[in-house]
Amino acid sequence: MLTEQFGNASSIHHFGQTAKQKLESARRNLAALLQCHPTEIVWTSGGTESNNLALFGVDGHVVTTAIEHPAVLEPCSRLNATVVRVGPSCVVDPDDVRKAIRPGETALVSVMHVNNETGVIQPLDEIAKVVHEAGALLHVDGVQAAGKIAVDATVADLYSVSGHKLCAPKGIGALYVRKGVQLRPRTYGGHQERDRRPGTENVAGAVALGRAAQLIFEQGLPSPELRDRLERGILQRVPFASVNCAGSPRVPNTSNIRFDGIEGEPLVIALDLKGFAVSSGAACSSGAVEPSHVLTAIGMSREDARSCLRISLGRGNTEAQVDALIEATAQAAHHLHRLVPTHV
Ligand SMILES: Cc1ncc(COP(=O)(O)O)c(C=O)c1O
Repeated sequence: MLTEQFGNASSIHHFGQTAKQKLESARRNLAALLQCHPTEIVWTSGGTESNNLALFGVDGHVVTTAIEHPAVLEPCSRLNATVVRVGPSCVVDPDDVRKAIRPGETALVSVMHVNNETGVIQPLDEIAKVVHEAGALLHVDGVQAAGKIAVDATVADLYSVSGHKLCAPKGIGALYVRKGVQLRPRTYGGHQERDRRPGTENVAGAVALGRAAQLIFEQGLPSPELRDRLERGILQRVPFASVNCAGSPRVPNTSNIRFDGIEGEPLVIALDLKGFAVSSGAACSSGAVEPSHVLTAIGMSREDARSCLRISLGRGNTEAQVDALIEATAQAAHHLHRLVPTHV
């Protein structure tokens, strides 16, 4: 795409029209994955931009939840927003959403489809019912759901996805905008993306995202077997480990495990030295000393939240790799546990 089909999709010459065809074919592939119409897809630079486009695109009071990604919470902190609390299951209670909605005043409710730290799936059908009964719009941050579980974006009015969570490159994403929803753009310029996101499109990124969506469509969704093997193995080997939100509906690739009495950070470093990339909070805030805002929001103490590890498996991972990770985690966890004076 970058060396041969580099035309501007808005140009009428041959190069431009070839790029335009590729862009529209990618749009159709992504729309198929999200079960919506291609004209309802707006290309963006990623999940953060999609969320901002949705949240700032509507006037009025906003309702969101305490477990959202900063790409929702930060925009909401600049809006007139109510943040709904979430309990230890990490599942948003539709009734709490109902209570937070101000009839006639609430324009938009923003709830994520899948939590990025616990992997917990939210009851979107029930939440959509509550939101639509109140005459508001529903925005869903679906960044962690697309490609992991079946997605029907049309449950919502606005649905965000990010390319790099689907194995496409970083810097491309999309927002599903239901036909008829009036959305104020964040930027002004040309008329690309039906005036909703002006500017020359990232054709190569969009083509990659479209291809990623097509591959997921063809290959099917991941199954939880490897995740279950990983959790079983760690729980067997490490008696002071427990799986967070194990009783809640979860995506098949994400595990959040607490190692009672030890810190997640040194565990991340120990595993990194052995070639495993895991995290002790949201990847986006790695490096920060603060414990995960999601785990503290669902009632965990700051100390307990610090002792958690998030492990995400990819399509290419094998049983042998999972077994090696179990072994490495058990060794590192026992080593760190022995170093903690209270556990000697
Ligand atoms: C739930 C969620 N929303 C939004 C984002 C931000 O997406 P992007 O990195 O594409 O801006 C992330 C990134 O990890 C995420 O996990």
